[in-house]
Amino acid sequence: MVSLLSLLFVFHLLVIMSSSIPTTSEKFAKESPIFPSTKPMEKLTQLHFYFHDHIKGKNPTSLIIVQPPTRFGTLYIMDDFLTEGPSPSSKLVGRSQGMYATSSQHGFDFFMATSFLFTEGIYNGSTLSIVGRNADMPTREIPIVGGTGVFRYARGSAWLTTYMFNVTSGVAIVEYNVSVVHV
Ligand SMILES: *[C@@H]1O[C@H](CO)[C@@H](O)[C@H](O)[C@H]1NC(C)=O
Ligand SMILES: *[C@@H]1O[C@H](CO)[C@@H](O)[C@H](O)[C@H]1NC(C)=O
Ligand SMILES: *[C@@H]1O[C@H](CO)[C@@H](O)[C@H](O)[C@H]1NC(C)=O
Repeated sequence: MVSLLSLLFVFHLLVIMSSSIPTTSEKFAKESPIFPSTKPMEKLTQLHFYFHDHIKGKNPTSLIIVQPPTRFGTLYIMDDFLTEGPSPSSKLVGRSQGMYATSSQHGFDFFMATSFLFTEGIYNGSTLSIVGRNADMPTREIPIVGGTGVFRYARGSAWLTTYMFNVTSGVAIVEYNVSVVHV
């Protein structure tokens, strides 16, 4: 009887503790248990945000660092920003610090290797590493190969759709849906 009471007490404590964890708006991130899973401790987090890339203007967020005579092989470095909504002035949720390069001789595909550094709520300081082909297609998928902090041992995928691209201003806004499994 005593052990049952102490179990109930521990359970009660856990409930209180979990309700005091700061919450983030469901618009940006939603976490849920995975069913069925062989690893009950793993979680699935779905993130939704917009990526802003400014290649021209006074304060570009990405720069060409290698420019061969052909368009193919151009290498860019970026410190792009991630927001909750499509507007550049909507809430900042993180940054994308990495590189992308034109990797197709005949098309407009990119190879992207970047680290998303999140700054929002419990995700502040956690990163996701994204590496793969950013294809010249309306919707494309790039693998999540790892992460740190909340996203330690991460794996998953990011689905991208171009929301807006203006050649004149050099501004691209890309919608991201990320599904990530982590501990
Ligand atoms: C995120 O963490 C950094 C460093 O700990 C802190 O300076 C910053 O204010 C935090 N940002 C938010 C949005 O909580
Ligand atoms: C992201 O998910 C939303 C809601 O499920 C959907 O409307 C949108 O088309 C998705 N976008 C991408 C890039 O997968
Ligand atoms: C693209 O950017 C240029 C330069 O900033 C601007 O004049 C034009 O209206 C933009 N086009 C669209 C469709 O937003």
